[in-house]
Amino acid sequence: MNHIDTSDFYGPHVTNQLIREALSPYPDNLALVTKIGAMRDDKAAWLPAIGAAELAQAVESNLRNLGLDILEVVNLRVMFDVHGPAEGSIEAPLTALAELQRQGKLRHIGLSNVTAAQVAQGRSICDIVCVQNQYNLVHRGDDALIDELARRGIAYVPFFPLGGFNPLQSSALSAAAQYLGATPMQVALAWLVRRSPNILLIPGTSSLAHLRENLAAADLQLPDEIMPVLDRIATDCTIG
Ligand SMILES: NC(=O)c1ccc[n+]([C@@H]2O[C@H](COP(=O)([O-])OP(=O)(O)OC[C@H]3O[C@@H](n4cnc5c(N)ncnc54)[C@H](OP(=O)(O)O)[C@@H]3O)[C@@H](O)[C@H]2O)c1
Repeated sequence: MNHIDTSDFYGPHVTNQLIREALSPYPDNLALVTKIGAMRDDKAAWLPAIGAAELAQAVESNLRNLGLDILEVVNLRVMFDVHGPAEGSIEAPLTALAELQRQGKLRHIGLSNVTAAQVAQGRSICDIVCVQNQYNLVHRGDDALIDELARRGIAYVPFFPLGGFNPLQSSALSAAAQYLGATPMQVALAWLVRRSPNILLIPGTSSLAHLRENLAAADLQLPDEIMPVLDRIATDCTIG
């Protein structure tokens, strides 16, 4: 099963329209995963959009622009702090999303930008199939959460897997890549795959060459001796 992470809140539905144009009719082994809960204003600032009516509107917009009768997975992007998880109750928006699920608009629900407490609260309201938070070789605040989700059979989808706006840079990563005959970004992706069986990758790129390189990382096996070197990067390294 392949999955594509999409979202309607980066622009006026352009992303979803492009996905529809490129990929429909959709193959059976493709799951489109979208995300709602935030909007950008005309100055590109992030605004919460988690009222029941806003969520319903976002789901309808995704359905329409992707050309689907039902959305496979919808992530609720929690917005107490736009830059990272912050505590606060998610009962109201998640109950509203679960109602849309009961109405047959979406099959599964995920959470994004959440704390472990919010995942626990979410699971008391409805089934949660995936969590999408920031995580990579150097940004490892979710280590315990990833292990807990793996035990529960819940997927973990790290966003900014390559460092996002500040792509990963580390001499240890570069040395490991040279040793393995791979690129640093391939090693960063292979490390995530090896980190836990519940991790799904969504690296972003605007380059076809990088896309091919990133896909080839699926075949990169990391030998045991390289793991402690890579694990130390989080404490030693320069940026993430
Ligand atoms: N849930 C959330 O709140 C949230 C927040 C942020 C992002 N996301 C999602 O997370 C996903 C990934 O985010 P992202 O794309 O911003 O971050 P990312 O995947 O960590 O990094 C993308 C950056 O890495 C570069 N890159 C990619 N492949 C490379 C390669 N092989 N070699 C060298 N550089 C490479 C890209 O440049 P090039 O274009 O030049 O390749 C780009 O600058 C996206 O689907 C995004 O929508 C979710």
